[in-house]
Amino acid sequence: MDKEKNRVRQRANEIKPYRCKNLIAVLENPMDIKNIGTVIRNVNALGVEKTYIVDSRKALPDDWEEMREKKSLSKTSVSAIKWSFVKRFDSSEDCLKHLEKNRFRSVVTSPHVKGKINEILHEADYTMPKLAVWFGNESRGISDEVVASSDFCVSIPMFGMIESLNLGTTTGIVLYEITKQRRAFQEKYKRAGRGPQKSTESSQ
Ligand SMILES: C[S@@+](CC[C@H](N)C(=O)[O-])C[C@H]1O[C@@H](n2cnc3c(N)ncnc32)[C@H](O)[C@@H]1O
Repeated sequence: MDKEKNRVRQRANEIKPYRCKNLIAVLENPMDIKNIGTVIRNVNALGVEKTYIVDSRKALPDDWEEMREKKSLSKTSVSAIKWSFVKRFDSSEDCLKHLEKNRFRSVVTSPHVKGKINEILHEADYTMPKLAVWFGNESRGISDEVVASSDFCVSIPMFGMIESLNLGTTTGIVLYEITKQRRAFQEKYKRAGRGPQKSTESSQ
C-alpha cells in the first residue's frame, strides 16, 4: 500500500510543473455520459486544471466527492475523475458569473461561424492569464448567451462531408493545441526567472 502511495506521489510531483494553471474546460449541457467521461480523461491527460459542467438537467451530483463515486463517470473517464476537479453549475449564466468574478476570459468552440470574431484553432493565441474554453451540447452546439460573453469562437477546420466532430474528439484536439501553447508560455516565464502563475480563484 505504501509502495503504491509513493508511486502516486512521485508521479504527481513529476507532472506538477507541466499542469496548465488557470485553464478550465467548460461543457455546456452535455447529454452523453460517455462524452463527459472522455472529456475528463482528456482534461486529466493533457494537464488542464479543471472541468466545469453546466448541467441544467441536474443529472450529475452537486459535489465532486459524490461525482467521483459515480460508477458511470469513473468507468468512462478510466478513473481520471479521481484526479481531476469537476464542478457543476445549474445554468450557463451561473457559470459565466462565477468565471467573470474570478477574472477568467471565455472562448467558445464551434464548427460554425459564431459571434463577431472567429479563429482557426492553430492560428489563435491562448496565453491569456485565465482562460475558460467552452464546448457545446452534442446536438444544439454552444448557446448564443455564451457566445455573446466570449472573446472569440474557435473552429477546427472540417474537410469532410459531415458537419461536426464528436464532443470528446473536439476536446482532445482543441485542448492539445491550447495546453501546448500555455506550457511553452509557462516555460518561457520560468526561464525568465518569474515564478509560475498561482491559482487565485476564490472558491472552486
Ligand atoms: C457534436 S458538436 C455540436 C454540433 C451542433 N450541431 C452545432 O451546431 O454546433 C458538439 C460540440 O463539439 C464542438 N465541435 C465539434 N466540431 C467542432 C469543430 N469542427 N470546431 C470546433 N468545435 C467543434 C463544439 O463545441 C460543439 O458545440
